[in-house]
Amino acid sequence: MNTVDTRWEKISKEHTDKDIIKEAGDIIKNGGLVAFPTETVYGLGGDALNPESSRKIYEAKGRPSDNPLIVHIADLKDLYKIVSYIPESALILAKHFWPGPLTMIFSKSDAVPYETTGGLDTVAVRFPSDKTAQGLIKAAGGFVAAPSANASGRPSPTSAKHVYEDLQGRIEMLLDGGSCEIGLESTIVDMTEEIPVILRPGYITEEMLEEVLHRVEVDRTILSNLSKAAPKAPGMKYRHYAPKGELVIVSGESPGVTAYVNERIKEGVSAGRRVGVIATDETIGLYDDCLKKSVGRREDEAAVARRLYEILREFDEEGAEEIYSEAFDYGGMGQAIMNRLLKAAGHHVIKV
Ligand code: TXA
Ligand code: MG
Repeated sequence: MNTVDTRWEKISKEHTDKDIIKEAGDIIKNGGLVAFPTETVYGLGGDALNPESSRKIYEAKGRPSDNPLIVHIADLKDLYKIVSYIPESALILAKHFWPGPLTMIFSKSDAVPYETTGGLDTVAVRFPSDKTAQGLIKAAGGFVAAPSANASGRPSPTSAKHVYEDLQGRIEMLLDGGSCEIGLESTIVDMTEEIPVILRPGYITEEMLEEVLHRVEVDRTILSNLSKAAPKAPGMKYRHYAPKGELVIVSGESPGVTAYVNERIKEGVSAGRRVGVIATDETIGLYDDCLKKSVGRREDEAAVARRLYEILREFDEEGAEEIYSEAFDYGGMGQAIMNRLLKAAGHHVIKV
């Protein structure tokens, strides 16, 4: 593909820079691509209603074009233009969680090209809370298609530096809003089913959704690789978020886990391999010398979520060949954390 000059523009969180945001919006209106911060991860934005822009997004990411894009809006009224039917339950979720880290799937209207939805008759829609994202969406005409701004197969970017590493020369502009607050992608809920189904767990947990809707279901494929069913979110079938080294999750009680991992460290290091460990503040001191990193305090799920992708990228940079990670509890955001970790590990779990 042709390379372009990627302009890296810093944006302050308090007052979004109007001139730069307008320029960025114009780039998208003219069919170009702009990466931008959201509260979850950085997005790679193009005009959602322009089939050519969606094709460019797939090309820039190196992503299979049957993997649909999320359409980002910045005004609830705009939802009515891109979907053909809005169930009552979706309006309830919108009232509670929009703007925010929730994506809902609807039947699409004719305004949305199949290039954007990967050929599906449904469309995923999100109204992000990040002010820079909102400003950009408005400046770009209201509808911005954006997957996570990583090259396909790499961890989602949680800082502008990550985006630049992956997409430099492939996008016209990068809006740098600093580190993302949440650090994991939005919760995706399919609203086209009688009972809404969580297709991808995220910051908005099953419990939070059940508090406002009577029932939600969870796609069986989220935490298991045993189910024969194909995940309903096409992207969930790809081995995403994969670090270059081999990642193994070690689950069990702490003394057993540290003892097992220390054995692996001894073996690996004496064979001249670079061994990494994903630990917590409570346990990091218990591991022998290697490339060990803490995701934060174990009970601080928000911190773990924020740090996880960055750590996976650091291991790539440092050339880690084998990586051992502690497992996390499944409650609350833990479901999203373990979903991403299991995918990064290709479901390689050792129980000790
Ligand atoms: O937090 C987020 O959602 C970020 C930020 C940038 O908004 N975006 C993001 O997009 O994670 P992406 O493209 O990396 O992941 C979108 C997921 C994919 O797994 C895709 O298959 C699924 O959403 N998806 C999109 N449209 C869908 C549809 N119509 N039906 C089912 N799944 C859909
Ligand atoms: Mg992604």
